[in-house]
Amino acid sequence: MQRLRLAVLVSGDGSNLQAIIDAISTHTIQSEIACVISNRKAAFALDRARKFSIEDYYIGIGNYPDEKERNEVLYDTLIRENVDLIVLAGYLAILPEKLIQAYKGRIINIHPSLLPKHGGHGFYGIKVHESVIHSGDKLSGATTHFVELGIDTGQIIYQKTVKVAPDDTPEDLAKKVLKVEHQLMVATLVAIESGIVKIGSEADQNMPQIID
Ligand code: GAR
Repeated sequence: MQRLRLAVLVSGDGSNLQAIIDAISTHTIQSEIACVISNRKAAFALDRARKFSIEDYYIGIGNYPDEKERNEVLYDTLIRENVDLIVLAGYLAILPEKLIQAYKGRIINIHPSLLPKHGGHGFYGIKVHESVIHSGDKLSGATTHFVELGIDTGQIIYQKTVKVAPDDTPEDLAKKVLKVEHQLMVATLVAIESGIVKIGSEADQNMPQIID
């Protein structure tokens, strides 16, 4: 069992962050959250972190308008916090290339669709669910995957499906998928801690799985 130091990167509400915090409280997850980093100052996720006395950082365009400096600060913060795994939990900024390379096999993301469908540039939040509804898909879900240089292209870890009802609005679907995301996020971290899912240089040995 590996006890990891996690950095959770967020941009918004932070309900996936909350799922991790709750799983730590119930000892479902043995790892600790070293820090929460948001690229949005007003993200409610930062309030959630503070409530549980988790180190929180705002690193965004507002306080670091220069992209190069912003990227350096983000990188330096993760190194200083001695992070083993970076968890993108609704983080809607693009990570710098240097960071993705330095943490190869040590960055995971959660995406609110069954990748590779409805992923890539411009597919985030409610836009993903609008795309699913417009395409007439009967099935959607959530995906956890490793982060590589392309957007949403990295190796899939787990997927969990939800049924799309004929009268679902994008908002209805978002709610259903979010519920499943929380389970998938925790299941992914449990599997990483127990070594079922390998990270770091061994990450490419994993086989994608669907949990139902
Ligand atoms: C989640 O649905 C997550 O999958 C999505 O943003 C939401 C964040 O919710 N991420 C993306 O769309 C990334 N492409 P949360 O802040 O309540 O965890």
